Amino acid sequence: ESYDMGGHDTYMHKEISEQAEAVDRVLRGRIDDRFATVHLGGLNLEPGEARRVRRIKILGCGTSYHAGQIGAQLIEELARIPADAEPASEFRYRNPVVDPDTLYVAVSQSGETYDVLAAVQELKRKGARVLGIVNVVGSAIAREADGGTYVHAGPEVCVVSTKCFTNTVVAFALLALHLGRIRDLSVADGKRIIDGLRRLPGQIDEILKTEPEIKQLAKQYADARSMLFIGRVRGYPVAREASLKLKEVSYIHAEAYPASELKHGPLALIEPAMPTVAIVPDDDLLEKNRAAMEEIKARSGRILAVAHQVQEKADHTIVVPKNEDELDPILMGIPLQLFAYHTALALGRDIDKPRNLAKSVTVE
Ligand code: AGP
Repeated sequence: ESYDMGGHDTYMHKEISEQAEAVDRVLRGRIDDRFATVHLGGLNLEPGEARRVRRIKILGCGTSYHAGQIGAQLIEELARIPADAEPASEFRYRNPVVDPDTLYVAVSQSGETYDVLAAVQELKRKGARVLGIVNVVGSAIAREADGGTYVHAGPEVCVVSTKCFTNTVVAFALLALHLGRIRDLSVADGKRIIDGLRRLPGQIDEILKTEPEIKQLAKQYADARSMLFIGRVRGYPVAREASLKLKEVSYIHAEAYPASELKHGPLALIEPAMPTVAIVPDDDLLEKNRAAMEEIKARSGRILAVAHQVQEKADHTIVVPKNEDELDPILMGIPLQLFAYHTALALGRDIDKPRNLAKSVTVE
């Protein structure tokens, strides 16, 4: 991959469009069909050590933190290790308890974000084991970590991260599968996840083909002053990342909430001028998500759903292909990257360099 725009008007558009190849790259050479597992060469974590891990704490900022939130869910689902993600910027200021049975994972596209690097250095000082999930090879965080994996997304130039988010989540799925298979994930489930991972590049291409419809939708919602993004469990970090994408690049205020929290406050915001983007995967929470959309419709809110089938309660639905339940979050964020892009385009924003932001925050 070169740094030229390859016929695209912006790096953001180029980078969104490259996601099928990028995912193909993070998977390449790592899948072991014979044992329904994956090999992550640089992890530097012996199976015996990995079996002793009692908790996983993931640290990152912004989009990388959101990727870590999906990563934590994947690790809990596939490896059954308690896991959570926290903004690295907060972690390092709160004198955290550093536990020898916890594995720490630092996530960063650039590998240079100061808040993440400082958290890693503090953890190392206190004797913790830290893995890095990083895009830029040889970057400071990659060098400081005890081991880890590169996400192989290729160069990301746009300040707004897109393909790197997707690849980071796929890298977490690989880590979760690896940990699961040396703990208690069955061969059948390992195969199921591997088959799902292999379907991702083709499904990403299908999503990218729907860009003309997403562009039309973006024009219809670009007049909003504020938007609410909702999801439940697997859908919630997708909602958070999509809301960050929209606000960074379009400057429309956006807020993400778990759909289950609507009645605890945000329902008061609902009115025709406050549209909601709802993440509605076809999983065991489908009916709950439909009920949330009903609540919003009853208050005259406009709804754009991202779902696996057309949602009657929504004004519009972006239909995405279904994968395994655990891997669906990887796909559901992609149309919303295009939605943010086209909203920003409709509003004439400086897409590759949004005001006040830098690609890599290397200072406090
Ligand atoms: C992403 O769209 C943002 N520009 C920002 O949140 C970014 O993800 C964050 O600053 C962390 O960067 P990193 O992944 O390079 O560490």
